[in-house]
Amino acid sequence: MRPLKLKTNLRMFVASKTQMGKTTWIKRVVLPRLPAYLVWDLKKQYGGHGVVVHDLKGLEDALSANCCKIIFQPLLITDTAFEELCEFIFFHLRGFTFIIEEVHQVVSKHKIGFYFKQLLTVCMGEPYFIGIIAISQRCANVHNDIIGSSGIVVCFKMFLPCDAEAIGVIPANDILALEPYACLIYNEDERDNPIDCWPPLPKIT
Ligand SMILES: Nc1ncnc2c1ncn2[C@@H]1O[C@H](COP(=O)(O)OP(=O)(O)O)[C@@H](O)[C@H]1O
Ligand SMILES: [Mg+2]
Repeated sequence: MRPLKLKTNLRMFVASKTQMGKTTWIKRVVLPRLPAYLVWDLKKQYGGHGVVVHDLKGLEDALSANCCKIIFQPLLITDTAFEELCEFIFFHLRGFTFIIEEVHQVVSKHKIGFYFKQLLTVCMGEPYFIGIIAISQRCANVHNDIIGSSGIVVCFKMFLPCDAEAIGVIPANDILALEPYACLIYNEDERDNPIDCWPPLPKIT
């Protein structure tokens, strides 16, 4: 198990079957390592991890107050609401990591919004420095641009070979053999030995 260094403008994909520890790992391992983040929190699970906003007006107010840990809990979960948020990020946010829970709900294999695609493909460097962390329980239905652009891929337990095979950079059999809450981390920066295994996080007592 290697220490994990994360850059604000990283590209990361986090996958597993539901209930295998993704959200817990994001909260306990990823958020404390990031200086500025915005979470698309459609299941309302991140309330204690930043200022909660529900629309673009709330987001503008939070930014005006210099908040850099922001939880966006959309009132309407639609492709349009997500795309409007991506457009806002494209024009206004700099040096933030955008974390998208259940990304398959808003970006599918065959449908990717214009501004989300911009964030993913052109906003890593100057002047944007936008990071993307996409989280999904249905990785066979996640757009190839997401998996393909992710320099870090984190996989918790899966049961379906088609989902495990969709990951590509980690052998499917190793993903299927994981115990619950353990994960395999592929990191393209670790050229000689890119895959690391993390045991389950210790329970908080
Ligand atoms: N390392 C762990 N040890 C014990 N329980 C865990 C661990 N990680 C997650 N859990 C529990 O498993 C359940 C699902 O975790 P969660 O992170 O929400 O999974 P996912 O996001 O993959 O659906 C939660 O009740 C959580 O408290
Ligand atoms: Mg989750």
